[in-house]
Amino acid sequence: MQTWDALMARRQVRDYADTAVDRGLLDRVLEAGRRSPSARNVQRWDFVVVTDDAVKVDLARTWQGAHWTPGAPVVIALIAPVVDDEHQRLSIEYDLGQAAAAMMLMATDVGLGSGQSSSRDQELARSILGLPADRYCSKLITVGHPSHRPVSAITKPDRRPIDDVVHWDRW
Ligand SMILES: Cc1cc2nc3c(=O)[nH]c(=O)nc-3n(C[C@H](O)[C@H](O)[C@H](O)COP(=O)(O)O)c2cc1C
Repeated sequence: MQTWDALMARRQVRDYADTAVDRGLLDRVLEAGRRSPSARNVQRWDFVVVTDDAVKVDLARTWQGAHWTPGAPVVIALIAPVVDDEHQRLSIEYDLGQAAAAMMLMATDVGLGSGQSSSRDQELARSILGLPADRYCSKLITVGHPSHRPVSAITKPDRRPIDDVVHWDRW
């Protein structure tokens, strides 16, 4: 698949088939995250790959909107350092967003579905994943084969019109 095709086909997948993800394909997804750009290239991220069903179920309890994530064969927890400075915090979140986007596009590229969810209860996330006190779980990325609707181009995406979004030269 070309980049354009992957961009057209990526969507939030919340229903997954009970089929394992090929380890080579999963490694590519993780590599896409590792290669993502970050502010000053500090790479303030770690990825915890969760395949254990019980851990996935526990992790889903960190945020009500994550209830569907245990259905994915793989959940990747995006971990970052806790910082006091607001500018740094936003910078880290921006970097994590880029890593997440790269991983999800990579997943699409190899025909896998992907999704994302927030993770809110950090005390719980830390105890489930064994994170140090100075780390938090920002988001959960799910990867797997979609249960229905294969990964294919979305012709009518639910998006604002291009002329509404793009401004040329001035606002
Ligand atoms: C920062 C962020 C947080 C999100 N959190 C959740 C979430 O907690 N639960 C969920 O089901 N989807 C979550 N989503 C998925 C969005 O709802 C979804 O990407 C959006 O509706 C657009 O749909 P699409 O990805 O299929 O284009 C999140 C997406 C982003 C970018």
